[in-house]
Amino acid sequence: MMKQARTMGNAAKRIVLHPLQADRPGRSMAEEVVRGLSASPKHLPCKYFYDHTGSLLFEQICGTDEYYPWRTEDALLAEIAPALIDRAAPRTIIELGSGSSRKTRRLLDACETAGRYPDYMPLDVCPNMLAASAEDLTEEYPWLRVTALAGDYTLGFSQLSSHRSPALFIFLGSTIGNFPDHELGVFLSGLRAVMHPGDFLLLGADLEKDERVLQAAYNDAAGLTEAFNINILNVINRELDGDFSTDGFGHDAKYNRAQSRVEMRIVSKWAQSARLGRCDATFLFSAGEPVLTEISRKFSPGRLRDLLSAAQFSVDTLHTAPGPSFALLLATPRPSD
Ligand code: AVJ
Repeated sequence: MMKQARTMGNAAKRIVLHPLQADRPGRSMAEEVVRGLSASPKHLPCKYFYDHTGSLLFEQICGTDEYYPWRTEDALLAEIAPALIDRAAPRTIIELGSGSSRKTRRLLDACETAGRYPDYMPLDVCPNMLAASAEDLTEEYPWLRVTALAGDYTLGFSQLSSHRSPALFIFLGSTIGNFPDHELGVFLSGLRAVMHPGDFLLLGADLEKDERVLQAAYNDAAGLTEAFNINILNVINRELDGDFSTDGFGHDAKYNRAQSRVEMRIVSKWAQSARLGRCDATFLFSAGEPVLTEISRKFSPGRLRDLLSAAQFSVDTLHTAPGPSFALLLATPRPSD
C-alpha cells in the first residue's frame, strides 16, 4: 500500500552502517587455516565458503529440488509471520547473519499489514552485502530505518544491549547447526545477555529426518553443493596466496547418525602438497585424505528446548513444518535463577 510513496534519494537517509565491535580478539584467516590444516584430522572453518562466488552458489543450492531447508523455512515463516508480529510487537528487528535479508521480508510484510513500523538492525560479516540489501529494503519499505552492523558476531555482540525494546531477535537458516559444540551455548547465552524483558528470539533450526532426504540435500544432482564445497580452496588460494589444485579434491557429504549431523568434506584425490605463500607453509595430503569443511546439525525438538533452556530462555512457541521438517522457535528471556 505504501510502496507507491517511495521517493528516490530518500532511502539513503534511512541507512546507517557501523562496524560491529568485537568483545574478544579473533584469529586471522591465516591463523585459522594453518591451524585447521595442521590438525589431524584436517578441518577448515565453514565461514570461508562465502566469498561472492560462494554466496551465489549457496543461493543456487537453495533453488534446487533437493535442498529443502531454505524453502521449508521460508514457507513456514510466511505462515506464522502475522501471529508472530502480533505476539512480539517489535519496535526493533535485529537479525544475526542477515545475508540478503530475503526471508526478513516475510516479517516486514506482516509488520506493514499490521501497521507496525519497527527499525531493522541487520548484522553480517560482509559490508557490501549489508549496504546492498539495506538499499533494496529501504526502497521496498519506505518507512523502514536500517542500522546495519558489519562484523563477525561470533566474536561477541554486547553492543546490541542498548537496543530499543521490545526487540525481535532473529537467527534463521539453521546457521546455528554449523556451530561447533562449545559455541552453541556461548552464542545462545550471549544472545540472552543482551536481551531485555519483553524481547523475543526467533530461531530457525533444521530437524532430524530420513537420511535419504539429508543425503540428497547435500549431494544435489546438478553438482552445486560440490562446487560450493570445493570453492573454499579458491578462497584460500586468493586470500592466502595458495596453490591448491581444485581438480585434486572431491566432494563428500554424509549424515553422521550418531552425532545427528551432516558432515561435509573435501577429499584429496591423490597424494599431493599445497603451499600457502602468505603463511610460508606447505601441507601434505595423502590419497583419500579428508578435510572437514562443514557440520550441519539436525536437531530434535527436545534438544532445541534443552539448549534454549540451558541458556536461560523459555520457549514460547515451537512451530514445525511437516516433512521435510524444519523448526522455527519463538523464545523469551527467562529471568535469571
Ligand atoms: C545455510 C549454513 C545452514 O548447513 O545446510 C548448504 C549451508 N551447506 N549446503 C547448511 C550449506 C551445504 C547451510 N547453512
